[in-house]
Amino acid sequence: MNLEKKLYSENVSQDDRLGESITVARIFEEATQIESVSGLAEDSTPVPEAWTAINRKIYHRLPKVALNNSKTIKSSQKSLGEILPERYSCRRFSLKPICLEDLASILDSVARTGGDTLQQRVYPSAGMRWPIEWYIAAINVSGLESGVYHYNSFNHSLDVLALENPWNSLQDAFQMQDITCPSAIIILTSIFPRTWIKYGARGSRFAHMEAGAAAMCFDLAATEIELGVVWIGGFIDRIVADALDLNWDMELEMPTLCLAVGYPS
Ligand SMILES: Cc1cc2nc3c(=O)[nH]c(=O)nc-3n(C[C@H](O)[C@H](O)[C@H](O)COP(=O)(O)O)c2cc1C
Repeated sequence: MNLEKKLYSENVSQDDRLGESITVARIFEEATQIESVSGLAEDSTPVPEAWTAINRKIYHRLPKVALNNSKTIKSSQKSLGEILPERYSCRRFSLKPICLEDLASILDSVARTGGDTLQQRVYPSAGMRWPIEWYIAAINVSGLESGVYHYNSFNHSLDVLALENPWNSLQDAFQMQDITCPSAIIILTSIFPRTWIKYGARGSRFAHMEAGAAAMCFDLAATEIELGVVWIGGFIDRIVADALDLNWDMELEMPTLCLAVGYPS
């Protein structure tokens, strides 16, 4: 079923769109309902190793960009109570580039893996399965060549996936959107088998919930340093997946959510 065409095409009537949505939602919601909690119990013994193993996405052969560790976010004087009401969806960005140090600082605070066992982040993860991976499409970032990067959350560096301006192809993915001049697109993907292995199909819901939690952390951290952000859930999946070189058949990894970021115009 081609949802992208059917759900977004202007030629589809409201009734057809609703009818198809009900059909798909039924399949998804029913297939991911839980009949018993045995599969979700945290105290099942013995715990299979696959439920606790950390699956890192590592690009051994790709060049890296080291990131600084300065904590802009932590030195801010603003309280959470002051930051929360400042958040809004920014869709018009300025040509002023964001700087790599600020981006690194947000990633350090929000996406970096920490703790003694490298199993902690600021956002929660169902069963600590961490299905979300972070990618940066750098369009206008001072100190960073335009290109597509994977964020290595374990050693706080970027893996260089491609060095060409990604806005050309991503614009096609966001063609139904009215978003101008973002400095970067942060792309959150889900590697679904990480969570399926413990929770079965329910894990798909968990991956999407986690992406929302992760995105909100990024949004607030960016808001704190006066960057604008808009969440983009309406994108053409295949184009974003291709920009990141994702392999659905082999890795079962798909883009879940995009965040456009930059200085508001
Ligand atoms: C899951 C999710 C997906 C979204 N997708 C888009 C999108 O594709 N395009 C867009 O312009 N805004 C998108 N938004 C932003 C909403 O349109 C926006 O939050 C809403 O209009 C309220 O405005 P505010 O964020 O300024 O308060 C999305 C928000 C969420 C939570």
